[in-house]
Amino acid sequence: MNVLVIGSGAREHALCRSLSLDPAVTALHCAPGNAGIAEAAELHQVDALDGEAVAALAVELGAELVIVGPEAPLVAGVADAVRDAGIPVFGPSKEAAQLEGSKAFAKDVMAAAGVPTARSYVCTTPEEVAAALDAFGAPYVVKDDGLAAGKGVVVTDDLEAAAAHAAGCERVVIEEFLDGPEVSLFAITDGVSVVPLQPAQDFKRALDGDEGPNTGGMGAYSPLPWADPKLVAEVLETVLQPTVDEMRHRGTPFSGLLYAGLAITGRGVRVIEFNARFGDPETQVVLARLKTPLAGVLKAAATGDLADLPALRWSDDAAVTVVIASHNYPGTPRTGDPITGLAEVAAEDAPHAYVLHAGTTYDGDDRDTVVSAGGRVLSVTATGTDLTEARERAYKAVGRIGLDGSQHRTDIAAKAAAGA
Ligand code: AMP
Ligand code: GLY
Repeated sequence: MNVLVIGSGAREHALCRSLSLDPAVTALHCAPGNAGIAEAAELHQVDALDGEAVAALAVELGAELVIVGPEAPLVAGVADAVRDAGIPVFGPSKEAAQLEGSKAFAKDVMAAAGVPTARSYVCTTPEEVAAALDAFGAPYVVKDDGLAAGKGVVVTDDLEAAAAHAAGCERVVIEEFLDGPEVSLFAITDGVSVVPLQPAQDFKRALDGDEGPNTGGMGAYSPLPWADPKLVAEVLETVLQPTVDEMRHRGTPFSGLLYAGLAITGRGVRVIEFNARFGDPETQVVLARLKTPLAGVLKAAATGDLADLPALRWSDDAAVTVVIASHNYPGTPRTGDPITGLAEVAAEDAPHAYVLHAGTTYDGDDRDTVVSAGGRVLSVTATGTDLTEARERAYKAVGRIGLDGSQHRTDIAAKAAAGA
């Protein structure tokens, strides 16, 4: 199978790594990619937000499956353009991607489908905002309605800060605070059948101890030893299948990856958010544990054949990923700094630990020097017989990487490994 992956993050590197290990994949392309993906796939230049350009590239390459990684191209309708060109695509239509593109739309779908989520108000005026904040009380949860790369949500006890964030958004969703551990559960769907993956936990705050601002995600692990073994079956029944059914009944079937961000509260599971694509960094750990070759699974979702797919096979290993971010992330990051230690990790730590690239590029024509090119730079991933071993291996590899001014959390999966 000839496969084209769209995107340039560590998630796309993880996808390309798994696809490159799949014997069914005979040609692997990525656009635009990054310096790490270049080692697994042939890179191509394309404006990932331009559906016609992506479709033309897919036709030119003879792609038999296109996988759209990030949310922005999906919300821009890139999957529709590829589908219109007659090529199977893993990723929802523009209309279905509104499950992620608009938090208000997602709330409406959840209400219609009876999916448990936080009570909320959609507000467009300062008066509505003030009334909603007052109705729920602190901690305040204020969400920009549109896409914001994981940075549009403010959770705070400070009423002024909550109102100020709302004032900076055109339309906001203000909702009740959900208390309890968070779980990311991904499901692959063709619009009818739903196949859940293994759950993972993501660390959204920038600093150790869940301090600091929200980010796109600073690390993740899977499995979740503390979670109820029935969690996946329960979420399939109460969240994933009803949502997929509701989208189909609306005439906008959702196919691709449905990401449920969940809070496990004292009153049961509640949806915090939906995303319309693989999560980053959770994908890095989920795919590290998937034994079924990936291409056939994604192709079955793209062609509506998921019902015929044999059950997925999973490794009993644990996986941990630690994100190395640039100086000042999640603010405007510093870029262009050289990254060292990549060859050492490849030589000393493979195959149990490996580096997935996010914001990296080559230093001009110099193919020997990789430099930082974004906020999240690398996602150092490791597997082990348990979380303790996977953590040790991940942090050992992190210790070999040099990047001036970089930051990473030191407590990824620490509590879960300690059985807390
Ligand atoms: P979202 O972009 O909706 O996933 O929100 C980003 C992060 O904000 C989530 O991962 C949670 O940590 C936090 N958050 C969002 N909504 C709530 C809520 N209703 N209660 C508590 N925390 C929330
Ligand atoms: N890890 C959070 C996200 O992908 O949105």
